[in-house]
Amino acid sequence: MPDRPIGVFDSGIGGLTVVRELVRALPGESIVYFGDTARVPYGSKSRETVIRYSEEAAALLLAHDVKLIVIACNTATAYAGERLASRLPVPVVGVIEPGARAAAAASTRKRVGVIGTLGTIRSGAYDLAVRRKLADVQVYAQPCPLFVPLVEEGWAEHPATHLIAEEYLRPLQAEHIDVLVLGCTHYPLLRGLIGQVMGPTVQLVDSAVETAREVRGVLGGTGLLRTTASPPRYRFLASDSPMRFREVGQLFVGELMEAVQHVDPEAYGHVTS
Ligand code: DGL
Repeated sequence: MPDRPIGVFDSGIGGLTVVRELVRALPGESIVYFGDTARVPYGSKSRETVIRYSEEAAALLLAHDVKLIVIACNTATAYAGERLASRLPVPVVGVIEPGARAAAAASTRKRVGVIGTLGTIRSGAYDLAVRRKLADVQVYAQPCPLFVPLVEEGWAEHPATHLIAEEYLRPLQAEHIDVLVLGCTHYPLLRGLIGQVMGPTVQLVDSAVETAREVRGVLGGTGLLRTTASPPRYRFLASDSPMRFREVGQLFVGELMEAVQHVDPEAYGHVTS
Protein backbone atom coordinates (compact mmCIF):
# COMPACT_ATOMS: atom_id res chain seq x y z
CA MET A 1 0.00 0.00 0.00
CA PRO A 2 2.65 2.71 0.87
CA ASP A 3 4.19 2.32 -2.60
CA ARG A 4 0.98 3.31 -4.33
CA PRO A 5 0.63 6.85 -5.67
CA ILE A 6 -1.28 9.72 -4.13
CA GLY A 7 -4.33 10.59 -6.29
CA VAL A 8 -5.15 14.24 -6.89
CA PHE A 9 -8.07 15.64 -8.83
CA ASP A 10 -9.22 19.07 -9.90
CA SER A 11 -11.63 20.62 -12.37
CA GLY A 12 -8.67 21.36 -14.64
CA ILE A 13 -5.08 22.46 -14.38
CA GLY A 14 -5.37 24.74 -11.32
CA GLY A 15 -4.92 21.81 -8.92
CA LEU A 16 -1.34 21.62 -10.10
CA THR A 17 -0.64 24.33 -7.49
CA VAL A 18 -1.42 21.59 -4.95
CA VAL A 19 0.80 19.10 -6.82
CA ARG A 20 3.64 21.63 -6.66
CA GLU A 21 3.32 21.85 -2.88
CA LEU A 22 2.93 18.06 -2.52
CA VAL A 23 6.18 17.53 -4.41
CA ARG A 24 7.91 20.04 -2.11
CA ALA A 25 6.52 18.51 1.08
CA LEU A 26 6.74 14.85 -0.01
CA PRO A 27 9.48 14.54 -2.64
CA GLY A 28 9.50 10.73 -2.48
CA GLU A 29 5.81 10.23 -3.28
CA SER A 30 4.39 9.25 -6.66
CA ILE A 31 1.34 11.18 -7.87
CA VAL A 32 -1.49 10.51 -10.30
CA TYR A 33 -3.27 13.75 -11.21
CA PHE A 34 -6.60 13.99 -12.98
CA GLY A 35 -7.67 17.34 -14.44
CA ASP A 36 -11.24 17.43 -15.71
CA THR A 37 -10.36 19.87 -18.47
CA ALA A 38 -13.32 18.84 -20.65
CA ARG A 39 -15.81 19.96 -18.00
CA VAL A 40 -14.00 22.89 -16.32
CA PRO A 41 -15.06 25.23 -14.72
CA TYR A 42 -16.71 23.70 -11.66
CA GLY A 43 -16.90 27.09 -9.94
CA SER A 44 -20.04 28.22 -11.75
CA LYS A 45 -21.85 24.82 -11.81
CA SER A 46 -24.57 23.48 -9.52
CA ARG A 47 -23.90 21.41 -6.41
CA GLU A 48 -25.45 18.28 -8.01
CA THR A 49 -23.26 18.52 -11.09
CA VAL A 50 -20.07 19.12 -9.09
CA ILE A 51 -20.89 16.13 -6.84
CA ARG A 52 -21.41 13.87 -9.86
CA TYR A 53 -18.16 15.00 -11.49
CA SER A 54 -16.27 14.58 -8.20
CA GLU A 55 -17.59 11.05 -7.73
CA GLU A 56 -16.50 10.15 -11.23
CA ALA A 57 -13.05 11.63 -10.64
CA ALA A 58 -12.70 9.66 -7.40
CA ALA A 59 -13.71 6.41 -9.15
CA LEU A 60 -11.15 7.10 -11.87
CA LEU A 61 -8.37 7.64 -9.31
CA LEU A 62 -9.34 4.52 -7.33
CA ALA A 63 -9.07 2.55 -10.60
CA HIS A 64 -5.47 3.84 -10.73
CA ASP A 65 -4.82 2.23 -7.35
CA VAL A 66 -4.18 5.35 -5.30
CA LYS A 67 -3.61 5.18 -1.52
CA LEU A 68 -5.11 8.58 -0.67
CA ILE A 69 -7.16 11.12 -2.60
CA VAL A 70 -6.55 14.86 -2.50
CA ILE A 71 -9.44 17.01 -3.69
CA ALA A 72 -7.35 19.91 -4.99
CA CYS A 73 -10.39 21.84 -6.22
CA ASN A 74 -11.95 24.16 -3.66
CA THR A 75 -15.37 24.02 -5.31
CA ALA A 76 -15.33 20.19 -5.38
CA THR A 77 -14.20 20.13 -1.74
CA ALA A 78 -16.97 22.55 -0.79
CA TYR A 79 -19.71 20.49 -2.42
CA ALA A 80 -18.44 16.90 -2.34
CA GLY A 81 -15.66 16.75 0.27
CA GLU A 82 -17.63 15.29 3.17
CA ARG A 83 -19.54 12.94 0.91
CA LEU A 84 -16.37 11.46 -0.59
CA ALA A 85 -14.61 11.25 2.78
CA SER A 86 -17.44 9.15 4.19
CA ARG A 87 -17.74 6.84 1.17
CA LEU A 88 -14.24 6.13 -0.11
CA PRO A 89 -12.06 3.21 1.02
CA VAL A 90 -8.95 5.46 1.19
CA PRO A 91 -8.29 8.66 3.19
CA VAL A 92 -9.59 11.84 1.52
CA VAL A 93 -8.01 15.29 2.06
CA GLY A 94 -9.77 18.39 0.76
CA VAL A 95 -8.34 21.90 0.59
CA ILE A 96 -10.85 23.71 2.81
CA GLU A 97 -10.15 22.29 6.29
CA PRO A 98 -6.37 22.85 6.11
CA GLY A 99 -6.82 26.38 4.76
CA ALA A 100 -9.44 27.26 7.38
CA ARG A 101 -7.28 25.86 10.17
CA ALA A 102 -4.29 27.97 9.11
CA ALA A 103 -6.49 31.08 8.82
CA ALA A 104 -7.97 30.58 12.28
CA ALA A 105 -4.49 30.12 13.75
CA ALA A 106 -3.09 33.22 12.04
CA SER A 107 -5.89 35.68 12.80
CA THR A 108 -5.32 37.86 15.83
CA ARG A 109 -8.07 40.42 15.12
CA LYS A 110 -10.57 37.65 14.28
CA ARG A 111 -11.43 39.25 10.95
CA VAL A 112 -10.84 36.71 8.18
CA GLY A 113 -11.42 37.18 4.45
CA VAL A 114 -11.99 34.35 1.99
CA ILE A 115 -11.86 34.59 -1.80
CA GLY A 116 -12.92 31.83 -4.19
CA THR A 117 -15.20 30.83 -7.04
CA LEU A 118 -18.92 31.57 -6.95
CA GLY A 119 -19.63 27.96 -5.93
CA THR A 120 -17.11 27.91 -3.10
CA ILE A 121 -18.32 31.22 -1.68
CA ARG A 122 -22.02 30.34 -2.09
CA SER A 123 -21.52 27.01 -0.32
CA GLY A 124 -20.37 28.82 2.83
CA ALA A 125 -17.93 25.95 3.45
CA TYR A 126 -14.94 28.15 4.38
CA ASP A 127 -17.07 30.35 6.68
CA LEU A 128 -18.30 27.29 8.51
CA ALA A 129 -14.86 25.69 8.76
CA VAL A 130 -13.22 28.90 10.06
CA ARG A 131 -16.06 29.51 12.56
CA ARG A 132 -15.72 25.96 13.89
CA LYS A 133 -12.09 26.66 14.70
CA LEU A 134 -12.22 30.21 16.04
CA ALA A 135 -14.95 31.55 18.32
CA ASP A 136 -16.40 35.01 17.61
CA VAL A 137 -14.61 35.32 14.28
CA GLN A 138 -16.03 37.52 11.51
CA VAL A 139 -15.66 35.92 8.07
CA TYR A 140 -15.94 38.09 4.94
CA ALA A 141 -16.29 36.12 1.73
CA GLN A 142 -15.87 37.50 -1.78
CA PRO A 143 -16.22 35.60 -5.08
CA CYS A 144 -13.57 36.54 -7.68
CA PRO A 145 -14.72 34.62 -10.78
CA LEU A 146 -12.54 36.50 -13.28
CA PHE A 147 -9.29 35.46 -11.60
CA VAL A 148 -9.39 31.90 -13.03
CA PRO A 149 -9.57 32.86 -16.73
CA LEU A 150 -6.98 35.63 -16.20
CA VAL A 151 -4.48 33.15 -14.74
CA GLU A 152 -5.14 30.64 -17.52
CA GLU A 153 -4.54 33.40 -20.04
CA GLY A 154 -1.10 33.93 -18.47
CA TRP A 155 -2.16 37.40 -17.28
CA ALA A 156 -1.09 37.10 -13.65
CA GLU A 157 1.07 40.23 -13.99
CA HIS A 158 -1.15 42.15 -16.44
CA PRO A 159 -2.37 45.67 -15.49
CA ALA A 160 -5.96 44.58 -16.24
CA THR A 161 -5.66 41.88 -13.57
CA HIS A 162 -4.38 44.51 -11.14
CA LEU A 163 -7.45 46.69 -11.75
CA ILE A 164 -9.81 43.74 -11.35
CA ALA A 165 -8.06 42.67 -8.14
CA GLU A 166 -8.47 46.18 -6.70
CA GLU A 167 -12.18 46.08 -7.52
CA TYR A 168 -12.75 42.62 -6.02
CA LEU A 169 -10.67 43.19 -2.91
CA ARG A 170 -11.94 46.67 -2.01
CA PRO A 171 -14.83 45.37 0.17
CA LEU A 172 -12.38 43.17 2.09
CA GLN A 173 -10.01 46.10 2.64
CA ALA A 174 -12.96 48.07 4.03
CA GLU A 175 -13.58 45.34 6.62
CA HIS A 176 -9.98 45.54 7.92
CA ILE A 177 -9.36 41.81 7.73
CA ASP A 178 -6.03 40.54 9.05
CA VAL A 179 -5.97 37.19 7.18
CA LEU A 180 -7.06 36.36 3.63
CA VAL A 181 -7.57 32.77 2.46
CA LEU A 182 -6.71 32.14 -1.19
CA GLY A 183 -9.63 29.72 -1.57
CA CYS A 184 -9.19 28.69 -5.19
CA THR A 185 -6.60 26.60 -7.00
CA HIS A 186 -5.51 29.43 -9.26
CA TYR A 187 -5.07 32.19 -6.71
CA PRO A 188 -1.58 31.20 -5.46
CA LEU A 189 -0.38 32.34 -8.89
CA LEU A 190 -1.77 35.79 -8.06
CA ARG A 191 -0.24 35.82 -4.60
CA GLY A 192 2.18 38.69 -5.33
CA LEU A 193 -0.54 40.87 -6.81
CA ILE A 194 -3.10 40.11 -4.09
CA GLY A 195 -0.47 40.80 -1.42
CA GLN A 196 0.34 44.12 -3.06
CA VAL A 197 -3.31 45.18 -3.18
CA MET A 198 -4.12 44.06 0.38
CA GLY A 199 -0.93 45.47 1.91
CA PRO A 200 1.52 44.11 4.46
CA THR A 201 -0.92 43.96 7.39
CA VAL A 202 -2.93 41.17 5.78
CA GLN A 203 -1.49 37.66 5.97
CA LEU A 204 -2.30 35.45 2.97
CA VAL A 205 -3.13 31.79 3.54
CA ASP A 206 -2.39 29.46 0.66
CA SER A 207 -4.66 26.42 0.91
CA ALA A 208 -2.31 24.43 -1.35
CA VAL A 209 0.61 24.71 1.10
CA GLU A 210 -1.59 23.82 4.07
CA THR A 211 -3.10 20.87 2.23
CA ALA A 212 0.31 19.39 1.41
CA ARG A 213 1.18 19.62 5.11
CA GLU A 214 -2.05 17.84 5.99
CA VAL A 215 -1.37 15.06 3.46
CA ARG A 216 2.08 14.51 4.98
CA GLY A 217 0.47 14.23 8.41
CA VAL A 218 -2.20 11.78 7.26
CA LEU A 219 0.28 9.55 5.40
CA GLY A 220 2.65 9.58 8.36
CA GLY A 221 -0.15 8.89 10.82
CA THR A 222 -1.51 5.93 8.86
CA GLY A 223 1.83 4.30 7.98
CA LEU A 224 1.33 5.13 4.29
CA LEU A 225 4.50 7.14 3.60
CA ARG A 226 6.46 5.67 0.69
CA THR A 227 9.73 4.10 1.79
CA THR A 228 11.08 2.76 -1.53
CA ALA A 229 14.28 4.43 -2.76
CA SER A 230 13.38 4.39 -6.49
CA PRO A 231 12.40 7.79 -7.91
CA PRO A 232 8.71 8.71 -7.74
CA ARG A 233 6.48 8.73 -10.83
CA TYR A 234 4.20 11.55 -11.87
CA ARG A 235 1.28 10.81 -14.16
CA PHE A 236 -1.06 13.41 -15.56
CA LEU A 237 -4.50 12.53 -16.91
CA ALA A 238 -6.89 14.96 -18.57
CA SER A 239 -10.40 14.65 -19.96
CA ASP A 240 -9.73 17.12 -22.80
CA SER A 241 -6.81 17.74 -25.18
CA PRO A 242 -3.52 16.65 -23.56
CA MET A 243 -1.66 19.24 -25.64
CA ARG A 244 -3.41 22.28 -24.11
CA PHE A 245 -3.11 20.71 -20.64
CA ARG A 246 0.63 20.32 -21.06
CA GLU A 247 1.09 23.88 -22.34
CA VAL A 248 -0.84 25.58 -19.54
CA GLY A 249 0.29 23.02 -16.94
CA GLN A 250 3.89 24.05 -17.45
CA LEU A 251 2.95 27.50 -16.09
CA PHE A 252 2.12 25.73 -12.84
CA VAL A 253 4.69 22.94 -12.44
CA GLY A 254 7.31 23.54 -15.13
CA GLU A 255 9.44 20.54 -16.03
CA LEU A 256 7.46 18.14 -13.87
CA MET A 257 4.87 18.03 -16.61
CA GLU A 258 5.81 15.44 -19.18
CA ALA A 259 3.40 13.16 -20.98
CA VAL A 260 -0.30 13.78 -20.47
CA GLN A 261 -2.76 10.99 -21.14
CA HIS A 262 -6.34 11.47 -22.27
CA VAL A 263 -9.01 9.73 -20.13
CA ASP A 264 -12.80 9.58 -20.10
CA PRO A 265 -14.02 10.14 -16.50
CA GLU A 266 -17.45 8.74 -17.34
CA ALA A 267 -15.92 5.34 -18.10
CA TYR A 268 -15.20 4.49 -14.45
CA GLY A 269 -18.69 4.77 -12.97
CA HIS A 270 -18.99 6.80 -9.80
CA VAL A 271 -18.72 6.24 -6.09
CA THR A 272 -22.11 5.46 -4.59
CA SER A 273 -23.27 5.04 -0.98
N1 DGL B 1 -10.48 24.47 -9.32
C1 DGL B 1 -11.48 25.47 -9.05
C2 DGL B 1 -11.47 25.81 -7.56
O1 DGL B 1 -10.48 25.71 -6.87
C3 DGL B 1 -11.28 26.72 -9.90
C4 DGL B 1 -11.57 26.51 -11.37
C5 DGL B 1 -13.03 26.11 -11.62
O2 DGL B 1 -13.93 26.94 -11.46
O3 DGL B 1 -13.25 24.94 -11.97
O4 DGL B 1 -12.50 26.16 -7.03
